[in-house]
Amino acid sequence: MATEVHVHGRIGQSIKRKEDGRFLRGKGNYLDDIELPGMLHMAILRSPHAHARIKSVDTAEASKMPGVLAVVTGELMAQHKLAWMPTLSYDTQAVLATDKVRFQGQEVAAVIAETRYQAEDARDAIVVDYDLLPAVTSPEQAKAQGAALIRDDKENQKDNHIYHWESGNQETTQAAFAKADKVIRLHTFYPRCHPAPLETCGCIADVNGATGKATIYMTSQAPHAIRTVFALVTGLPEQNIRVISPDIGGGFGNKVPVYPGYVVATAASLLIGRPVKWVEDRSENLISTGFARDFHMTGDLAVDKDGRMLALRVHLDSDNGAFFSDAQPSKFKAGLFHIVTGSYDIPTAHVTADGYYTNKAPGGVAYRCSFRVTEASYLIERLVTNAAIELGVDQAEFRKKNFIRKEQFPYHSATGWVYDSGDYHKAMDVALEQLGYDEMRKDVEARRKKGEVTGIGIASFTEVVGAGHGADFDILGLRMFDSAELRVHPTGKAILRMGTKSQGQGHETTFAQIVTEELGIPAADVAVEEGDTDTAPYGLGTYASRSTPVAGAATAMVSRKLRDKARKIAAHLLEAADEDLEWETGRFYVKGSPDKAKTIQEIAFAAYTNVPEGMEAGLEGVHYYDPPNMTYPFGTYAVVVDVDKGTGQVKVRRVVAVDDCGVRINPMIVEGQIHGGLAEGYGIAFMELITFDADGNCIGSNFTDYLLPTAVETPRFELGETTTPSPHHPLGAKGVGESPTVGSPAAYVNAVIDALAPYGVRNIDMPVTSDKVWAALRAAGVNE
Ligand code: CDP
Repeated sequence: MATEVHVHGRIGQSIKRKEDGRFLRGKGNYLDDIELPGMLHMAILRSPHAHARIKSVDTAEASKMPGVLAVVTGELMAQHKLAWMPTLSYDTQAVLATDKVRFQGQEVAAVIAETRYQAEDARDAIVVDYDLLPAVTSPEQAKAQGAALIRDDKENQKDNHIYHWESGNQETTQAAFAKADKVIRLHTFYPRCHPAPLETCGCIADVNGATGKATIYMTSQAPHAIRTVFALVTGLPEQNIRVISPDIGGGFGNKVPVYPGYVVATAASLLIGRPVKWVEDRSENLISTGFARDFHMTGDLAVDKDGRMLALRVHLDSDNGAFFSDAQPSKFKAGLFHIVTGSYDIPTAHVTADGYYTNKAPGGVAYRCSFRVTEASYLIERLVTNAAIELGVDQAEFRKKNFIRKEQFPYHSATGWVYDSGDYHKAMDVALEQLGYDEMRKDVEARRKKGEVTGIGIASFTEVVGAGHGADFDILGLRMFDSAELRVHPTGKAILRMGTKSQGQGHETTFAQIVTEELGIPAADVAVEEGDTDTAPYGLGTYASRSTPVAGAATAMVSRKLRDKARKIAAHLLEAADEDLEWETGRFYVKGSPDKAKTIQEIAFAAYTNVPEGMEAGLEGVHYYDPPNMTYPFGTYAVVVDVDKGTGQVKVRRVVAVDDCGVRINPMIVEGQIHGGLAEGYGIAFMELITFDADGNCIGSNFTDYLLPTAVETPRFELGETTTPSPHHPLGAKGVGESPTVGSPAAYVNAVIDALAPYGVRNIDMPVTSDKVWAALRAAGVNE
């Protein structure tokens, strides 16, 4: 039996983040910190119109401006067959517009100059003549008779419809609805919002004319996938493309897609023979790069007279913008919306989804989300609270009555997923206890009698993260495994290289901790390196909370491979048989003789100096992990709000968040992830909105219009936890990064709806701003 041994940094220890030393000292190495000899700068000219035909692009003045080396237009790109590029969803996207512009902010031309000032000045001297076309700004308009055709570049595209997708069983769902005692309907809109990472997107393309090697520094969450896509698009041999993702200041899905700027900068570097840097400014980031959500959703929940859920029917209209460009596993056109039955044992469900082109920036990135999980979770949790209100039952009790029970796992959902593990009743009980739910409910009633507007919102979400098993998941056909390569040096120190890429999640710490747990090398002695395609093994990158479920598992597996070899070396050193050795973290000892032992450091030295006859020297390996299933983290969030009747202002009084992500590798980092996600969820629920006027002008192009929560608005969070290990993950861990962004918006909004329920209000679309709340109260005859 292994004994408990203290090695610094084992799983479960909240050690400080190794990477923070350099970040706190201002020594991070972000894209814009990189300066290469002879480097040029690129500025992009963007369309001021949402939909317009391009009559001409006049670059004469711009070309003559000081410091300008090149002005690149769509026409020039077309000469090199680079005016259009494939997207991650099997569509095409304009790199620089040739025929039409299809959203405000679309890339039209680019200037490459000695300095950024010169590039931007010359950009402003380009003259484009446009012929305006009517703008389409919603799926409703997109499908209307006579709507302007947005994608007339596509041969067989006769309307603005992109896809129709169905999941579940229509027949059994219809039959269940026919027998229902009550059907509760919710129509709601999950508005367009933006991941808005602190660092915007950008790249430096450095194509070496002599060697043919293209080195592209890029703010990419998925450098390997980008390398392959670049190889396929440009025809450059893949070994001649090196993508380096340096430190990244937040991604949240915004840094997964391939943006036109990357392609233009690379083409420009190739043509000019010097490195070209392109870094977006804030407004460019907000108006043109990967938006999220924009889902119009209708859900019907059928229940019987005892309050049991019988069936769920859902329809979605998705607004994808002008190009269908977000990363999607090819088998799931509406992504992981399959999780829409959530934490409930709903026998049958039927989901339909339609995607539409509109004159908006390409959208649909999974902002801190696994391919539409957030929208699904929001819909079911809002619907369940509304159902409880309509049935006149307690929303916590209604949930508990319908939760999937612990003994039902692995649970086969009505839309075809197999949930790995869960104990929803326990998470709910811990949350209710922590909130003091019963007392709080009485307090709410007492306050209401005094005329106050106050309420409690609950969301008991189930997530599906860790994309994904290769048989079902791919991006452009690339299977979604991930990898880890571990090298232990002669002195027992190690380097771990991975196909993932941290954007602030603390991978340098947590993945080192997995090596510590499995091999006993202290976390401080394990360097973790990600983001360089020339050195790291292939992987699909970091998004959708997949790093721990997939690359974390790969790290455990490669460590175990090395431990197997270490056992043989230890046996040789101790002159014992392999099977007579016992492992405890950091050393092998002879069974019954704990003093006869070899530490992992001694074994590592021997791996290079004294291996058994016939054994290969060294202690290193690589593991590619194809997960057998997704992981299903869950939790219960409870929020208490007070609403000011006079102004409609919502004040969040309490937020209790109980998360279960299986075994926690670093509890402090997990809590940090949850704090961040709860803050982002708060912003989405109450503040953030990218909207468009009738002409398709984007409103929300800067941080005075697009409101992110600061420390002033962000409520205090009270965290709790339960631990239900994943049965298939080697460490029992599930992903966690996106859980709070997925789970919390419904909890916040449910609290407002609970507060307004006595006034007959059942829905306010996010962001739930004071004016909307005030208007709802006013419509209900509240006269303050
Ligand atoms: O893919 P991404 O890194 O964004 O998400 P994640 O796998 O949920 O991990 C976020 C951070 O939390 C990483 O540093 C993880 O290693 C850590 N984590 C943990 O310590 N324990 C877990 N059960 C899950 C994540």
